[in-house]
Amino acid sequence: MDRDIRRMSSPVGSRVRIDGREVDYFCGTSYFGLHGHPLVIAAACTAAQKYGIGPATAALTPAHEEAIERACRFFGTETITYVASGYLGPMVLTQALREDYDVAFADCASHYSVLDALRATAKEVVLFRHLDADDLARQLALRVCPGQRPLVLTDGVFPSTGAMAPLPAYAAVLDAYPRSLLCVDDAHALGVIGTQGRGSFEYHGLQGDALYFCGTLSKAFGGTGGIVPGDRVLEAKMRGLSHIPAGASAPSAPAAAAAAMGMRLLEEHPEMRRQLWDNVRHMRAGLRAAGFDLADTPIPIVSLPGAPSIDLRHVCDALDREDLVVLYVPPRGYSDAPDVESLRIAVFSTHTTEQIDRLVDGIRRTL
Ligand SMILES: Cc1ncc(COP(=O)(O)O)c(C=O)c1O
Repeated sequence: MDRDIRRMSSPVGSRVRIDGREVDYFCGTSYFGLHGHPLVIAAACTAAQKYGIGPATAALTPAHEEAIERACRFFGTETITYVASGYLGPMVLTQALREDYDVAFADCASHYSVLDALRATAKEVVLFRHLDADDLARQLALRVCPGQRPLVLTDGVFPSTGAMAPLPAYAAVLDAYPRSLLCVDDAHALGVIGTQGRGSFEYHGLQGDALYFCGTLSKAFGGTGGIVPGDRVLEAKMRGLSHIPAGASAPSAPAAAAAAMGMRLLEEHPEMRRQLWDNVRHMRAGLRAAGFDLADTPIPIVSLPGAPSIDLRHVCDALDREDLVVLYVPPRGYSDAPDVESLRIAVFSTHTTEQIDRLVDGIRRTL
C-alpha cells in the first residue's frame, strides 16, 4: 500500500483510528468534524433507509431538495446547482459562462479542478504568478485585446498552504476591464471564513454581479458533492451550456442528507466557527512561538516548510510515533505545494487546546 494512504477505521475527526491505533488527527478537510458528527451520520442513515443510495435520474429526493434549500439559505443565493463533486464546480462554471468571456487568466498554482476546467474550454488560458496581482495586471495588459472580456479564475484558499488569494487586489485590477469576471473555487473557504461562513467574497467584503464562486459540501459541511451558487440566469446557463448537471449522477441521497444536516448545524451554531477560528489562532500562535514565520489568518490549514538541515519525513514519522498525525507534502506534491517539502497541518473546531499544545510541543521537540 502507498506509504501515505492510511487505513482509517473510524469517522474522520480530531481523534481517529488509523492503522489500528487511536491518534490525534491533523489532516484532511473536515474542518468542523461534521463527517463524524452523530446527527450528520443519523441523517445519512435515515436518508439511506427512506430513499436508498443512488441518486434519482431527472428527479430529486427530499434529501437533495433539503440540501439545495439549506445551501441557498446558507449562501444567500437564489439557486444552488448541486453536482457530483466539488472538482466539477469550476468546469460547470466556465462552461456556463463561456459566452460571457473571451480569454481566461488563472493563478498558476490553482487546484487541478481549476486548470482542468480551463483546459476543457478550448479558449485561450493565461497563467499568472501565484498570488500576484501585479503579474495579473501585466498579463491582462499584454493579452486582452480591445473589446475582449477577461475571466479570472483562482482558488479562494489554496489547499496545501492555506494561502488566501488576494481577491480585492484582483477585483481592483479587473476594474479597468469592462464586463470582466472574477470566479473562485472556494472549496476550502465555504463554511469556514466570512461572518456567516459564506467564503472568500464575504470575508473580503466583495460584492457584485461579476463575481462567481463554486465549492464543495465535502469538506466543512460533512457531506459530499459540489455546489455552484448563483441566480436563475446562471442556473439557466448551466442547464443550457454545461452537460455536467444532467450528464453526471448527483451525490447520493445519504450524502445530500448529511450535507443538509451539516449546514443546519453550522447555521444554528455559529459558535462552531468561532471555536475553529480560536483553534487556528492558538495553533498559529504556538507555532510562531516555536520559531515559524506564519501569517495571522483564520485559515485552518497551516503549512510548515522544510529547510536543508531538516528531514521532514523524519519529523512526520517521529510525530506519528507519538500518535500525532500530520501530512507530509513532498516538493510540488500537490497543485499549490511549495518547491520544498512541507508539513500540512489541518485545524478542526473539535481539536482541544491540549491536542493542539501536544502537537506544537511535538513539533518543537522533533525539529
Ligand atoms: C480547491 C479545491 N477544489 C476542488 C476540490 C475537489 O472537491 P471534491 O472533493 O468535493 O471533489 C478540492 C479537493 O481537495 C480542492 O482542494
